[in-house]
Amino acid sequence: MSERDRGLKLDSEQESWNEKYRRREETLFAPDAFLVARRHQLQEGTILDVACGDGRNALYLARHGFTVTGVDFSREALRRLAHFSQAQGLTVEAHQLSLEQGALRAVGRFDNVIVVHFKPSPETFRDIGDVLNEGGILLMTSFNLRQHVERNFPEKYCYREREFIGVDDRLELLEYTSYQNERGHFDGYVFRKK
Ligand SMILES: C[S@@+](CC[C@H](N)C(=O)[O-])C[C@H]1O[C@@H](n2cnc3c(N)ncnc32)[C@H](O)[C@@H]1O
Repeated sequence: MSERDRGLKLDSEQESWNEKYRRREETLFAPDAFLVARRHQLQEGTILDVACGDGRNALYLARHGFTVTGVDFSREALRRLAHFSQAQGLTVEAHQLSLEQGALRAVGRFDNVIVVHFKPSPETFRDIGDVLNEGGILLMTSFNLRQHVERNFPEKYCYREREFIGVDDRLELLEYTSYQNERGHFDGYVFRKK
């Protein structure tokens, strides 16, 4: 794909996310249950929320004392995040950026990174390892391939079985689990940076 076509594809994905957020009601979804159950495994300090959307997880973590930065390419998601932050009297530093190779490095380094309902590219997964401080925690969860097979969710967004294990040898696996809830089939990971 040419550079120009890649740019156009990105613009149209971005616009489709903007449209989704525009159509959402003015209420925030509950924070992710896999994250909530593992909050105490996170290091005190800073958290980067990769593809943070309108901030349900970022705001939950800010409420629990973390210093949270969120990145997402949807302007509309970040507009909603600003609205909910103000309404809840919480602060999340938000950056509008597209997750291309190297993009995260401009945002800083963090004690924790979370990735919820998003599949990072191999390049972004590598960048996450770069921006995580030593001893820092990476928590990831998203739909797995069963969601594609059983519910026709697009395969390219699904985590393949054990997909992120052993990919970055700086990351020690603390937990890998496949699970199901009312929304579907998920894989969840917790890593610690060595
Ligand atoms: C399913 S939502 C999840 C949002 C949030 N993590 C949550 O759990 O509510 C996926 C998010 O990824 C963002 N996104 C998709 N592709 C992206 C990209 N290339 N760069 C930055 N953000 C992206 C979308 O704008 C959207 O907010």
